[in-house]
Amino acid sequence: MSGKPHAPATERNREPILAVLRVQFAERTRVLEIGSGTGQHAVYFAAALPQLQWQCSDRAGNLPGIRAWLDASQLPNTPPPIELDVASFDVPEVGDAFSTHGFAKFDAAFTANTLHIMGWPEVVSMFVGLDAVLEPDATLVIYGAFNVGGRFTSDSNARFDADLKAGAPHMGLRDVEAVDALARAIGFKLQADFPMPANNRCLVWRRRGGQ
Ligand SMILES: C[S@@+](CC[C@H](N)C(=O)[O-])C[C@H]1O[C@@H](n2cnc3c(N)ncnc32)[C@H](O)[C@@H]1O
Repeated sequence: MSGKPHAPATERNREPILAVLRVQFAERTRVLEIGSGTGQHAVYFAAALPQLQWQCSDRAGNLPGIRAWLDASQLPNTPPPIELDVASFDVPEVGDAFSTHGFAKFDAAFTANTLHIMGWPEVVSMFVGLDAVLEPDATLVIYGAFNVGGRFTSDSNARFDADLKAGAPHMGLRDVEAVDALARAIGFKLQADFPMPANNRCLVWRRRGGQ
């Protein structure tokens, strides 16, 4: 790919997300990003947080665009993106497959605006896979629009959900509580739920080894 894809929303939300990551990832070293999209978040966050190795991943069709951003940025801490569809992330071999590719486990994971695009079984699969590729003591940050207590938190989120479902019925805003249940099932505890601009949230979980 010659041109770099652009997702304008990343330029609006990257600064508030970075403010969260600066604190939550301050002592992290290896982050797996799921659903990197264009790669714009990755180059912005990796440049600002040079102590991190920022590993992009996405479905195959997005990898050329991510590569274009990584190549243009020439950062030392963004290895080539890996193909990862979380629909096939829930098999026990996934941890082995990552090791075979030379990947040590990650001590952090980040994903933005993905859970409402994935079908719910894919969201479930994502957490099973995260269990396999994350260190016992890991941090997980998920940004996006969520429902709370089974309700939309704004009219705009309700419209967004309707638009998503009109395009593809498997999409839609997820309940924070349902996502938290998946995180708890793999040993994570919710540490923070930061309100973000435009009725988004930034959810932070931490897992403590042995718990
Ligand atoms: C709305 S875009 C968000 C992209 C980027 N994270 C951002 O915030 O700009 C949704 C992303 O989720 C990814 N995605 C959807 N289903 C996925 C799956 N099953 N496995 C991995 N990524 C998936 C898409 O490929 C896309 O990159």
